[in-house]
Amino acid sequence: MEKTIILSCILLVLSSCASTALSKSYWKSSTYKAVKLHKTNLRFFIHDILSGSNPSAVRIAGPPGQNNPIGFGSVYAIDDVLTEGPEITSAVVGNAQGMYLSSSQGQIPSLVLYVDLAFTTGKFNGSSLSVFSRNPITENPREMAVVGGRGRFRRAQGTVFVKTYFLNNTNGDAILEYDVEVVHP
Ligand SMILES: *[C@@H]1O[C@H](CO)[C@@H](O)[C@H](O)[C@H]1NC(C)=O
Ligand SMILES: *[C@@H]1O[C@H](CO)[C@@H](O)[C@H](O)[C@H]1NC(C)=O
Repeated sequence: MEKTIILSCILLVLSSCASTALSKSYWKSSTYKAVKLHKTNLRFFIHDILSGSNPSAVRIAGPPGQNNPIGFGSVYAIDDVLTEGPEITSAVVGNAQGMYLSSSQGQIPSLVLYVDLAFTTGKFNGSSLSVFSRNPITENPREMAVVGGRGRFRRAQGTVFVKTYFLNNTNGDAILEYDVEVVHP
């Protein structure tokens, strides 16, 4: 009986502590112990293939009555292969899934990328990086923002430096070199 009372008291104190903390205000801050951060550099090539019977980039939307496939407002869904070297036969290291939007109304074309770069081999197998960024495709090299990640790249932040390795102006097929630098716990 006594034990039960003591236990009930403890539970009451604990629950009142919890409810006090939450009911006092709409926030709760505590000391955040900083963890050691790692810096990781990655280099790979992304194959964005619009041509052929099995393209890795497909146009899924665009403004009506527009003939230009990459005109302002065009949206592409992608599932691009990432390889170690520039050749498509080079070792596959992952894939880039997401989409890009033709975002410039001006004379110089530009994209905004919403892409998850997932790795399928090595130390970062199963981890991915989130890129949400403007991609000024006429600049070489150009810079994109890494805003987060999954797995070993949880809470990653960094930059992708992009260089156009190959571009077919006729069909839009492209191979891009991605040099990534990220900082993550
Ligand atoms: C990557 O991880 C998956 C899932 O855990 C596993 O099936 C696969 O064999 C791994 N691949 C490599 C190359 O380690
Ligand atoms: C570029 O694309 C056109 C049209 O698909 C094709 O005929 C040509 O061979 C391609 N050029 C290169 C260098 O891949």
